[in-house]
Amino acid sequence: MDKKIDRQNLAVDLGPLNLKNPVMAASGTFGYGEEYSGIIPLGSLGAIITKGLSLQPRKGNPPPRLAETPAGMLNAIGLENVGLEIFLREKMPFLRRVRCPVLVNIFGSTAKEYAEMARRLAEVEGIAGLEINISCPNLKKGGVIFASEPKSVHQVVSKIRRATSFFIMVKLSPNVADIVQIALAAEEAGADAVSLINTLTGLAIDVRTRMPILGNITGGLSGPAIKPIGLRMVWQVAQAVHIPIVGIGGIVTAEDALEYIIAGATAVQVGSAHFIDPRASLRIIDGIQSYLKANEIPNIAPLVGSLKTKRDLS
Ligand SMILES: Cc1cc2nc3c(=O)[nH]c(=O)nc-3n(C[C@H](O)[C@H](O)[C@H](O)COP(=O)(O)O)c2cc1C
Repeated sequence: MDKKIDRQNLAVDLGPLNLKNPVMAASGTFGYGEEYSGIIPLGSLGAIITKGLSLQPRKGNPPPRLAETPAGMLNAIGLENVGLEIFLREKMPFLRRVRCPVLVNIFGSTAKEYAEMARRLAEVEGIAGLEINISCPNLKKGGVIFASEPKSVHQVVSKIRRATSFFIMVKLSPNVADIVQIALAAEEAGADAVSLINTLTGLAIDVRTRMPILGNITGGLSGPAIKPIGLRMVWQVAQAVHIPIVGIGGIVTAEDALEYIIAGATAVQVGSAHFIDPRASLRIIDGIQSYLKANEIPNIAPLVGSLKTKRDLS
């Protein structure tokens, strides 16, 4: 039988951005792509999201920066990165050759800084769009993170939107009281898509020394432990917004990814799973393909948001 006819269609659209499949590599867990190029064919991925980038280089937090937790991990890297200039000079030549869309994850400490980054990156060849990490302290608001209030989310996203018509996906923090209001603020301000969730703030303690395990005291929890929270938030946001949603949090298997898609995510991101299995994304793409085939679903699109909330008791 012709192999091509035998394959299900995994292509999805995030608004103006077309992906050959819905599986993306999450920011901060996949370096700048190059680190994984000898391990998996990067062109097979739906997209790559690069490590968080700021205008100026950043050293990050003091060590230790990682701690293992039940069903997950805590990290407090502190957004260490090479800064915009070195990124453009040293990382872009490789990324330009990658045969899947590359999204650059950016952050800043003022709305102006975000807009400046967006404006400059929008002009760079080889970048398909931006993921905006708003889980960062707003220097103009006493260090409260942008992501925590609808008003500051609206302010920073509309400033970026005014600076560029480039594809922007706003990455939401789960450390908020009402995720739906935050997602609505991002949509109203002009986001093309939202991605959620980022890590949940946590703490790990060494009882022998009575000291925190992480140099930064607190860190971000990721991995399977956070999947039910991510799923709940994606499902809630899917009831409220009209822009595409990208689901993140604890995805290790194809089934995890499918849960997010059924909850309402058009695409997903694989993060910490890469530290256990660098080929995790590829394995998940194959697993989604097999699920569709086994269930005789020719096309992934109708699965998005197909959660049945009424039990069939017959
Ligand atoms: C070591 C590490 C570094 C991360 N760095 C970033 C980053 O630079 N920017 C960002 O938006 N998210 C960052 N994240 C968050 C992930 O992209 C993702 O949202 C989170 O880990 C939840 O997904 P997971 O459970 O699949 O890991 C980082 C996560 C980890 C574990």
